[in-house]
Amino acid sequence: MSIKRIAVLTTGGDAPGMNAGIRAVVRYATYNKLEVMGVFRGYAGLINDEVELLNHRSVSGIINLGGTILKTVRCQEFHNAEGQERAFNTLKRHSIDGIVVIGGNGSFRGAHEFYMRYKVPCIGIPASIDNDINGIDETIGLDTAINTALSAIDNIRDTATSMERIFVVEVMGRESGYIALQVAIAGGCEDVIIPERKFDTSTSLECYGEPSRTIDLHSICHGIVEGNLRGKISWIIVVAEGAGSAFDIARNITEMTSLETRPVVLGHIQRGGRPTAASRILALKLGQAAVECLLKGESDKAVAIKDGKTLTVDFEFAVRKKYLDTDNIYNLIKVLT
Ligand code: F6P
Repeated sequence: MSIKRIAVLTTGGDAPGMNAGIRAVVRYATYNKLEVMGVFRGYAGLINDEVELLNHRSVSGIINLGGTILKTVRCQEFHNAEGQERAFNTLKRHSIDGIVVIGGNGSFRGAHEFYMRYKVPCIGIPASIDNDINGIDETIGLDTAINTALSAIDNIRDTATSMERIFVVEVMGRESGYIALQVAIAGGCEDVIIPERKFDTSTSLECYGEPSRTIDLHSICHGIVEGNLRGKISWIIVVAEGAGSAFDIARNITEMTSLETRPVVLGHIQRGGRPTAASRILALKLGQAAVECLLKGESDKAVAIKDGKTLTVDFEFAVRKKYLDTDNIYNLIKVLT
């Protein structure tokens, strides 16, 4: 069946660069004589028929904007049969032959379930600050989020040094320590706590689990006190949200070292802002690749870049737990402290 009209939507947590992705899908599809319908509010918009025809001009002036002009929500209803049936009816009503889903892990799960039920051609574009899509190098928005967090950490460094304090800075990433590791090394931070390594908060000297993979608060505090005696006046410890809370860790450090410690939670500022060149270029390339896939009749997979090459990854594989090799960067952070 040749495709004439496709839909594009953004779903799940927004990520900087999504707009560049929408722009690429709309313009590359219209260049190839396809019509493009924009679906507002992700899967919820598909269920509730929030659909509008887009053209070349609809996506003017958005390449530099964070967020998503199509809006986005997290939609539980799409994971049940009734929600999917209503979404399918919307597609039929508008004669839509294929969908491009711009989103993260949860979005691809939904897309896969929908494909299995209705066999509507569906291609995913990985966009999430978490970089938690299996089998690919990088998601859209990651580079921007890292740079936003890094700029905040540089600011914190000024006050940390001036007031001779310890800071615990919590970054996003859900179950992944990817952002934390990258900003910790690029920000010259003294330590990093990530979910990929067991975090032992006990004050005892005993070490549980595989010692080389355990981060224990006792040795972090020991290092701080030792450093303090040598005249090292400030520390920044980055913690990934999936590994612990900045508030709890800061309180424990103060209790264990008697040194003033401040928690900072960077939160949603990491999700917004002007996308970096890297986030935009990735989005533009993947937008083109997604349309190419639909034109070739491919489905149920995400487009991605791995080792510098554009490829596709089956949704089923893309949503599996991504293995993150933390050793090199983690060890380097330790050596360079
Ligand atoms: O998935 C992106 C993300 O920003 C995660 O890093 C974070 O855990 C989550 O979304 C926050 O979700 P919400 O915006 O719904 O609070």
